[in-house]
Amino acid sequence: MSNPFQILPGENSRSEALTGGCDKPARENAARTFFIETFGCQMNVHDSEKVAGVMMSRGYRAAEDVDSADIIFYNTCSIREKAAQKVFSRLGQLKKQRHARLPVIGVLGCVAQQEGDAIFEQAPHVSLVCGSASYSKLPALLEELESGSRRVTGLSLATDECFETELTRRDNRFRAYVTIIEGCDKRCSFCVVPETRGPERSRASAALLAECRRLADEGFTEIQLLGQTVNSWRDPSPARLTFAELLSRVAEIPGVRRVRFTTSHPRDFTPDIVQAIDAYPALCNHVHLPAQSGSSAVLARMGRTYSREAYLEKIGCIRSAKRDISISTDIIVGFCGETIEDFEETLSLLDEVGYDQVFSFKYSPRPKTAAGGWEDSVDDAEKSRRLAVLQERQRQIQLRRNEAKVGRVFEVLVEGFHARLGQAVGRTPENYIVNFPGVPEWTGQYEAVWVTAAGPNSLVGERAGAA
Ligand code: 5AD
Repeated sequence: MSNPFQILPGENSRSEALTGGCDKPARENAARTFFIETFGCQMNVHDSEKVAGVMMSRGYRAAEDVDSADIIFYNTCSIREKAAQKVFSRLGQLKKQRHARLPVIGVLGCVAQQEGDAIFEQAPHVSLVCGSASYSKLPALLEELESGSRRVTGLSLATDECFETELTRRDNRFRAYVTIIEGCDKRCSFCVVPETRGPERSRASAALLAECRRLADEGFTEIQLLGQTVNSWRDPSPARLTFAELLSRVAEIPGVRRVRFTTSHPRDFTPDIVQAIDAYPALCNHVHLPAQSGSSAVLARMGRTYSREAYLEKIGCIRSAKRDISISTDIIVGFCGETIEDFEETLSLLDEVGYDQVFSFKYSPRPKTAAGGWEDSVDDAEKSRRLAVLQERQRQIQLRRNEAKVGRVFEVLVEGFHARLGQAVGRTPENYIVNFPGVPEWTGQYEAVWVTAAGPNSLVGERAGAA
């Protein structure tokens, strides 16, 4: 689903200002435009911001739309097969649409890493293939293309660096993403990420805090710390901050009103994170803690390193906080060998935890994963059935939980405005979505909103005043 509040290319002025000081190739590129279509997770959204920044520093301009672009990048996702297929159907459509003048086409991200050179065979009009672990080589790859190379690739996973760039184009005026750890070492049997994003690499605390201070000075009030397993961050510098200390330091920065972090792995979810949320009001009282399944047998086969009971202990720790912390999760249904009893245990986990939001998926076998070689024992129709049952159960849970919020007042950061409905829409610190009558000028502001009605996925309210 596309994000209706995403701000389109060209909003940010900082990286445009940086293009002024560019060297010769940058000036030569001045008339050339690029467009990035992003699929998948927030890490990909943020990677696209970094890539856009690099492009602009080389003198390229953001195209108004895909049809007018000289260069098109697809920043891809391969977490499930359907996601991976999307890019190939996009590449096919593009070839049909644009006979007269094909733009330069690059495939970035997880599909690029996974498929590598094979992409050129499937889609001969692609000229750049680059995985996220090689983004620091993008300027060099672009240079090769500019000097006439037909095909270039960046596919090495052998890196100990992160793609850090001062040039990042910020596509949202109030929320800034900051990658604190790249890659993943967890080796869950279903997951392709270690294969596509490489090993874990944490950024040093001083560099991270400096970046967050700069972002606050530039007017960003919400900082979202990112990592595939964000709480596995380990400070590689002598300061040796813990993840909870890093959260606290970011929350203390003047001007920062909200700090979010995603995604946490239950294994590394420690009580000091909950203590930090209790101690620092700017730390949002929301934790995304993917369970994946409610059955210990399935969790063991998934290689998640925790049982249902151990997961519930982490939930107990979150529930024992002084603040009311909302909890969301990811669930996979129909994993190899998942029986009806296992599935029932997942349903009972939803009841027991009372999640505020659940992202649920049918298991999709992925290449080069451990489970990819196992029997995909639950057929697709049964996976669909389980998914529908699970989603209906969660819908009822959410409706009940949301109805209990009617009459309360929440702080809402206004993220957008539906002109047709005259409604402002934003999020509470708990990540609840709230719609309320407003004006476009409120976008980016914090408002106190009194909740008057509730649905399963969002709340409706009235402005009570500035927050
Ligand atoms: N099949 C289905 N869902 C998957 N996820 C990760 N790998 C797979 C897969 N092979 C889900 C997990 C993860 C989320 C980002 O995507 O729930 O937390």
